[in-house]
Amino acid sequence: MIIAVPKETAEHERRVALTPDVAAQLIKKDLEVWVESGAGLAANFLDSAYEEAGVKIVAERSELFEKAEVLLAVQTPSNEDLKNLKSGAILICFLWALQHPDLVESLKSSGISSLGMDAIPRISRAQNMDALSSMSSIAGYKASLIAADTLDKYFPMMMTAAGTIPPSKALILGAGVAGLQAIATCRKLGAVVEAYDVRPVVKEQVESLGAKFVEVPLDEENTETKGGYAKELSKDSQERQKQVIAEHVKKSDIVITTALIPGRPAPLLVTKEMVAAMKPGSVIVDLAAENGGNCELTEAGKTVVKHEVNIVGPINLPSQLSNHASLLYAKNMLNLLNLLIKEGTTNFDFEDEILLNTTITHQGEVISPMLKK
Ligand code: NAI
Repeated sequence: MIIAVPKETAEHERRVALTPDVAAQLIKKDLEVWVESGAGLAANFLDSAYEEAGVKIVAERSELFEKAEVLLAVQTPSNEDLKNLKSGAILICFLWALQHPDLVESLKSSGISSLGMDAIPRISRAQNMDALSSMSSIAGYKASLIAADTLDKYFPMMMTAAGTIPPSKALILGAGVAGLQAIATCRKLGAVVEAYDVRPVVKEQVESLGAKFVEVPLDEENTETKGGYAKELSKDSQERQKQVIAEHVKKSDIVITTALIPGRPAPLLVTKEMVAAMKPGSVIVDLAAENGGNCELTEAGKTVVKHEVNIVGPINLPSQLSNHASLLYAKNMLNLLNLLIKEGTTNFDFEDEILLNTTITHQGEVISPMLKK
């Protein structure tokens, strides 16, 4: 079976789906691995390292797609590339199927079996395949470093001969995977950290990382879906949330926002009035920039200065840590492949909750229950 890995072509994408180490593990299982020449370069995995692992380096991109039996990628390949995949081939990458019905239709009609790395269920058994978690954690870490680099102050308290400098204050809005990593990183850098999330269950996790949890009384008794994600709030609750957040934003030097609601635009948490009330030189890093932003003044892909506040709207942060992001993504892939490929043949066992939810199309049919609702 030929497992093929193309060079990523999306703008800003520096990751690669498979590292030489993981390729070697697949080759040990008698699978053939083909990698497009230069695919790992932006993540500092050279063609020579893949060759040493036993990989075949392919110069012709179209040949790679035509021969692939399993194609592993980070981002969804272009339509032009997908036309070169044969019917029956398996595509595994981030697909965001709910947002791309045309893509799902075309994968279905061309007989491609597709698995979405964004569709892995959030259950314990699937944790080692959960690419959303491994990438979010990197984003939270990197957001903290960007904040530290942009702020014109120390993060930690500094006792110097010239006098004592108090620690900076960080506020993290949204304490999911990215938010918790941002809390941990800001704490390691020495800031005093507060955090807020609409799901009260995270209070304990926030506190265990040494941060203070900001409480907001809400109308809703339950703010969490069965899958552990946030629900959208009532208008009254949103208003109350805004008042409490405003007080905390005002006294913070750093605000890192990570709040997302699946399938909905990112909730607006930091209004332009709140930005105007912040101290000059403060920093907002908005990890929801690509989904519309948690801050009203965020511009995706840019750093802007508004009311003397630096507002950073980064796009694809995991790609900036391309080496480790690729390493973790490749391990996530390997764990999924171990479930999908048994003794050299594919095993689309839809009794298995992970394969059922992750498979978007197979043999001309849509499989994922999330697409059938
Ligand atoms: P996410 O990226 O969808 O959202 C980030 C955070 O924003 C969430 O914690 C959410 O509650 C929060 N949020 C949404 N609206 C908000 C608002 N208006 N104000 C403040 N915060 C708001 O979520 P993520 O980080 O991908 O994961 C969410 C949860 O999923 C985890 O905390 C966990 O419970 C569960 N999970 C389970 C896993 C497993 O068991 N394998 C793996 C990863 C996550």
